[in-house]
Amino acid sequence: MSLDESIYREFLGEVERAAEEIRRLIDEDRSFVIFCHNDADGLSSGAIASIMFLKEGARFLTRSVGGIDDILEDLKDFSGDFIPVFTDIGSGYLDEIVKVVGDSPVIILDHHEPVGESSKNIIQVNPHLCGINGADEISGAGVTYLVAKALNEENVSYSPIAVVGALGDLQDRIDGRSLHGLNELIVNDSIDAGLMKVEEDLLFYGRSYKPIHIALASTTNPFIPGISGDESRAYSFLMDVGIKVKEGDRWKVLAELDEDEKKKLYNGLMKHLASLGLPPSLARGIIGKVYELVKEEPWTYLRDAREFASLLNACGKTGNDWVGIAVAMGNRAELLEKAQELLEDYRIKLARAIEYAMRDESKQELKHTVVIDGGDVIDHKLISSVASMISSTGIMGEDKVLIAMASAEGSIKVSARASKKLIKMGLDLGKILKEAARIVGGRGGGHDIAAGAEIPKIKKTLFVLEVDRITGEMLGNSK
Ligand code: C5P
Ligand code: C5P
Ligand code: ZN
Repeated sequence: MSLDESIYREFLGEVERAAEEIRRLIDEDRSFVIFCHNDADGLSSGAIASIMFLKEGARFLTRSVGGIDDILEDLKDFSGDFIPVFTDIGSGYLDEIVKVVGDSPVIILDHHEPVGESSKNIIQVNPHLCGINGADEISGAGVTYLVAKALNEENVSYSPIAVVGALGDLQDRIDGRSLHGLNELIVNDSIDAGLMKVEEDLLFYGRSYKPIHIALASTTNPFIPGISGDESRAYSFLMDVGIKVKEGDRWKVLAELDEDEKKKLYNGLMKHLASLGLPPSLARGIIGKVYELVKEEPWTYLRDAREFASLLNACGKTGNDWVGIAVAMGNRAELLEKAQELLEDYRIKLARAIEYAMRDESKQELKHTVVIDGGDVIDHKLISSVASMISSTGIMGEDKVLIAMASAEGSIKVSARASKKLIKMGLDLGKILKEAARIVGGRGGGHDIAAGAEIPKIKKTLFVLEVDRITGEMLGNSK
């Protein structure tokens, strides 16, 4: 048995144990309140948990939240009359949770690194507890899916939603734009169930049905500055590169391009990036595995798992979380139409926010960090996506941490991202943000490669200086 296999076996044992406990609580006729994060992975995990309880006939309610503060606020007067179920959130704040729930049972299905002390009333499934990296090997939706499947084999039909969650959390970034580790196991469940097809290709959304310029403009993962979110610029780019977008009166689609045309497109993108001073590594991120949900209608935004994730993100970040959860649970018709409209709107807003964030006047460089301050201009709900997209362009280089900020009500929302190179050197953004936020009286945490914080408005400068200082220390110590 290989090391991986024995680690997975241990983790899957934990999954089984949690499923048995959940079964016992359902049999005792307890009620559940699911708290999920409001990003794509969070909504995916909330949808899978909802289906899990729905199928068993259990009483439950689902609430999506912006962060742990919202949950702690909701649980302020908690009296143990229901069982809180945290999906894609919770492990990073064990002490705070224990403080509010006392010794009542709690379920945590998460992939964030556990921080603090757990207690025996907490049923926690988390890959880190078995030595598996939750930043890229399995998402919150993946953990929730495995538990749901252990409870009822029929839940295999939700494996594509777990793939959507993983892609929403950009877990394909480490390994040449493909999922690996436990995520691969879930992809195989989807393929075996006849729900998914995986192919290596250009990653533009809707490659088999969207006109090429629309496919280019609608793709936000990867985000290509100057093209993503702007159909007319995508169209002129294709003209410049010399790609025929029409066959007679009919728009051509990406899947119709031959190898020569694909090469032309790829080289054209390299040139476009170089003209913006961006590294060619971004173009390499344009090729990878396409995860296609074959049971979805080809003309919807649900067919490509990456685009499905963008759609959920759009729902969550525009305050329409319930629309995203409902679609991920399987609702279609008007709800899908509504979600698609939200995504179209969101793409434009995001492209504008990124354009603002990339301006010189929004940026400030310190020794180990690049700071982007969205102030009141960038919606704080968009700052996480802005940070992820900008870091994916590679524009910040590999040697500095990216800190993006935007004003929220009474506080500042911070999203930080690091490069793979810095992670290899021992950097852990989750730890850095937790510590820097603590120093200024805020709250922070997350993964090694992506973390966030909420800090008091008046402590912005001090916070940034602390992140820079702790980053320097961590890099120095690891040498
Ligand atoms: O809370 P959660 O784990 O779901 O969020 C992870 C966040 O980290 C996502 O916003 C995702 O976009 C970001 N991420 C990133 N780059 C990576 C991995 C994750 O920006 N390589
Ligand atoms: O909000 P954003 O996507 O930038 O967060 C990056 C990661 O940090 C996510 O996994 C999120 O759950 C986590 N985070 C956290 N504590 C906070 C803010 C964010 O653990 N206070
Ligand atoms: Zn997640």
